[in-house]
Amino acid sequence: MIQSLVIRRPDDWHVHLRDGDMLGDVVNFTARQFARAIIMPNLTPPVTTVDAARAYRSRILEAVDEKLNFKPLMTAYLTDDMDPEEIRRGADEGVFTAAKLYPANATTNSAAGVTDIKNIYPVLMIMAEIGLPLLVHGEVTHSDVDIFDREARFIEDVLALVIKDFPELKIVFEHITTTEAVEFVNSHGANIAATITPHHLEINRNAIFQGGINPHNYCLPIAKREIHRLALRQAATSGSSKFFLGTDTAPHPVAAKESACGCAGIFNAPYALESYAKTFEEEDALDKLEGFASEHGPRFYGLPLNEEKITLERKASKVPEKLTLGETDIIPFHAGTTLNWSLVV
Ligand code: DOR
Ligand code: ZN
Repeated sequence: MIQSLVIRRPDDWHVHLRDGDMLGDVVNFTARQFARAIIMPNLTPPVTTVDAARAYRSRILEAVDEKLNFKPLMTAYLTDDMDPEEIRRGADEGVFTAAKLYPANATTNSAAGVTDIKNIYPVLMIMAEIGLPLLVHGEVTHSDVDIFDREARFIEDVLALVIKDFPELKIVFEHITTTEAVEFVNSHGANIAATITPHHLEINRNAIFQGGINPHNYCLPIAKREIHRLALRQAATSGSSKFFLGTDTAPHPVAAKESACGCAGIFNAPYALESYAKTFEEEDALDKLEGFASEHGPRFYGLPLNEEKITLERKASKVPEKLTLGETDIIPFHAGTTLNWSLVV
């Protein structure tokens, strides 16, 4: 039985680092595990300008332990009236690594998101021209579409159109949760890829209702049926370069999760690699972890691979029931359980 795994240092292609005190509380969990991360722009107010992204990047770099040698990669939050030239300038100046499409009201802090995909066609045209990836929160939001069908409907109603109209555009279908998404990504060219979270590989929708409502397993897109989880596990561990690591770590204080209107999001940064290693081992695919975690992402983004290595050891990681960070309690993913792998630091 393999006792340790040495791989190229991984990157996280989808992270919510928040801002203010929370940023300081959570950033080192990500920086300890990952060399680089794509930083989501859904702050209040959202990161819609080059200046705002530059300022946020400075706050991240100020908050992070510099010994961890972490590089945040910034994204623009697309709105109906986004100026395409702002996107071009942000890319030219090395500030924007990608731009994020939140359909309006699809998730946390998305009220300023896009109400109709056609509204951002001028932006998509520039992005296709300069090769800037579009990161997609792929859910429709109409109240008549069942929450468990929102991703599949988004593929039909929005994504298929975008791909037809912008065949060259690089698209990352973020945090995919369905067989439909896996099939869609597999059936399109090399410019279409997807990230997969640790939690969507581990839980199905039963976990949200196990022994009562369990808000700590609630995230968006919501976990789906078992058949979908199995398809995600197959995709992640297949070795296909179209699928790569993106945790969607999304911390909320415990009080905001355990509330009459609990927030969506799972804080998985503290044991993200240990969780992925669990999945890959269960699928007998530990040899595929390095590609998924450290190679497919940078190749898609056209960035260099990390040269440093990390070691995962077969050693128990006891995940605490809760983490007290500054003034705030946060429940981590896998709380109260033991994982078989530990990241050596
Ligand atoms: O569960 C989620 N939480 N999904 C998202 O899309 C946003 C995120 C957050 O920011 O809390
Ligand atoms: Zn997210």
